[in-house]
Amino acid sequence: MTVAVCPGSFDPITLGHLDVVRRARAMFDEVVVGVARNSSKSALLTLEQRVELARAAVAGLPGVRVEPVPGLLSEFCRDVGAAAVVKGLRGGADVDHEVPMALMNRHLTGVETVFVLGDPALAHIASSLVKDVARHGGAVGDLVPAGVEHAVRDALGALPAQGGMTR
Ligand code: PNS
Repeated sequence: MTVAVCPGSFDPITLGHLDVVRRARAMFDEVVVGVARNSSKSALLTLEQRVELARAAVAGLPGVRVEPVPGLLSEFCRDVGAAAVVKGLRGGADVDHEVPMALMNRHLTGVETVFVLGDPALAHIASSLVKDVARHGGAVGDLVPAGVEHAVRDALGALPAQGGMTR
């Protein structure tokens, strides 16, 4: 059985992520969506919230499960027996962001990264933009799976005043 890991911070999961997960599942028998910490980003949602929202989003997809990544992605891939990491590309900026990580992961444990081109109709969707639109009062329900918009709005409402604790 072939296994792939679709990793990300999923803060929050979007329809663009789901598109990549579906494409990965078409190539591999099992897909593990790995919800990880990106130490260069400060997350809006807790790891537990991000896992919960991702689990709800993939609930109808056979052969797809969601797990938190406790440490290094490359070690997680080894632990779940993944033959590859699968990541989506929307354009050149994603290549610049993803290639160094793919090379580092291969250096660490030998895991390969397979890049797939997402649906161009979803290329405008990024978690960071979803949060920014929501933060400014815009609608994001057509960019994210059911339940995510509500969770993002809740988290934004619960944010401490600027200068307070961050996640
Ligand atoms: O969705 P993102 O934020 O672009 O995903 C990046 C992520 C979370 C996959 C990356 O930061 C990651 O792999 N984090 C886990 C820790 C790790 O392995 N760091 C070294 C990466 S080369």
